[in-house]
Amino acid sequence: MNGAREKWTSKLGFILAAAGSAVGLGNIWRFSYVTGTNGGAAFVIIYLVAIILIGYPMMVTEVAIGRKSEKNPVGAFKALAPNTPWWLVGALGVFSGFVILSFYSVIAGWSMAYIFKAIAGFTPGTDFADVFVGHITGTGVPIVWHAVFMVLTLGIIAAGVVKGIQRWVKILMPVLAILLVVLVFRALTLPGAGEGLAFYLAPRFEDVTAGTFLAAIGQAFFTLSLGMGAMITYGSYLTREENVADNGGWVVGLDTAIALIAGLAIFPAVFALGYDPAAGPGLVFITLPAVFAEMPAGSLFGFIFFVLLSVAALTSAISLLEVVVAWLVDEKEWPRVKASVIIGIVIFVIGIPTSLGMGPWSNITIIGMEILDFYDFVASELALPIGGALTAIFAGHVWKARTVIDETNDPPGAIKIGNWYGVLVKYVIPIAVFVVLITTLIDFFG
Ligand code: PHE
Repeated sequence: MNGAREKWTSKLGFILAAAGSAVGLGNIWRFSYVTGTNGGAAFVIIYLVAIILIGYPMMVTEVAIGRKSEKNPVGAFKALAPNTPWWLVGALGVFSGFVILSFYSVIAGWSMAYIFKAIAGFTPGTDFADVFVGHITGTGVPIVWHAVFMVLTLGIIAAGVVKGIQRWVKILMPVLAILLVVLVFRALTLPGAGEGLAFYLAPRFEDVTAGTFLAAIGQAFFTLSLGMGAMITYGSYLTREENVADNGGWVVGLDTAIALIAGLAIFPAVFALGYDPAAGPGLVFITLPAVFAEMPAGSLFGFIFFVLLSVAALTSAISLLEVVVAWLVDEKEWPRVKASVIIGIVIFVIGIPTSLGMGPWSNITIIGMEILDFYDFVASELALPIGGALTAIFAGHVWKARTVIDETNDPPGAIKIGNWYGVLVKYVIPIAVFVVLITTLIDFFG
């Protein structure tokens, strides 16, 4: 491709788009369900450590790689290390984008369906676990919502980056944050909320295993949209006048805050209303409607919430599809519209089994996991951490930590990346990821 690359048009453009990518189902749906199945507070602490030691440095790394190369992930590695196999890391990212979006869209479809359940009304005394199971075990309806969500995603991507993404996020995120805070108040004042608060905030380290660490690392990558090149791609649209370290700091801070607040709304309610914290992927869809049912004007709040959650999912899905489309547009010279439509359809088809796996195909398991769990495990706990660790090795040893540090501090910002960065990307991150990964796999298969 010739000519100047399209860039974010406003000063906030990158932060908005990157925060839009980061904040999504990962913060609310996945964070709460993974926290619930991994025992609560101890997991949350390990997750926070992973955000600081792995998430933030990798955010800076990916944005720097993108801004410097002005390329999609595959092209970026080719540009920075020509004639080496490092582009395969970018290709792994494109693969992750496919897999994640295929199931992400199914969950986002549930969220959209719940907008209509809210309109119909959330009434006290309903068994919301039943309602949820009734919805997801359906054959056609969840797939139709999955299709609707993919059409929205590919439509925005076909329209192009700047026009498509920026404007949504500015309005959405503050409203979502406020609504979550309202929910926190309602949840904390439910009788019996204390037990949930203890689950969420008082760690019991005796239950921690290597698997807890891998889940925390996987969640850190997933929630920050790292390890698959989304932030490389978004960084490639960032102008040279912006500081990478500060921009990255904002995105990581916002994303983490939203997840922590969501947990504070969900766990007290789970215990107060007698649901199971380890309910799995259904947790927010079961618990939050029950909270809304306990609130004045609860169905209205529920309606607003599921609209916001769906839009948050959309701004994340856009970044997943953008990685794949940017690769086809830059490297294979496909027209943007053609790439968006074809890839959108392929991902829709790959997602169908995850939807059916909840209902008619629920007896199908792969290495003991349901189809959704299997897709999520392969992408979030294998592909993202491996992609991230390889990116760290690349940045530290091949492109050189010094180059990244200079790139991130030019122009200087409030946060200054120092030599600690080199220690993290060269040694701490790759070693931590591979040790945890290998130990978990040995536990799992051994
Ligand atoms: N970060 C997004 C979320 O939390 C999901 C995502 C993962 C987006 C990887 C892009 C890349 O919902």
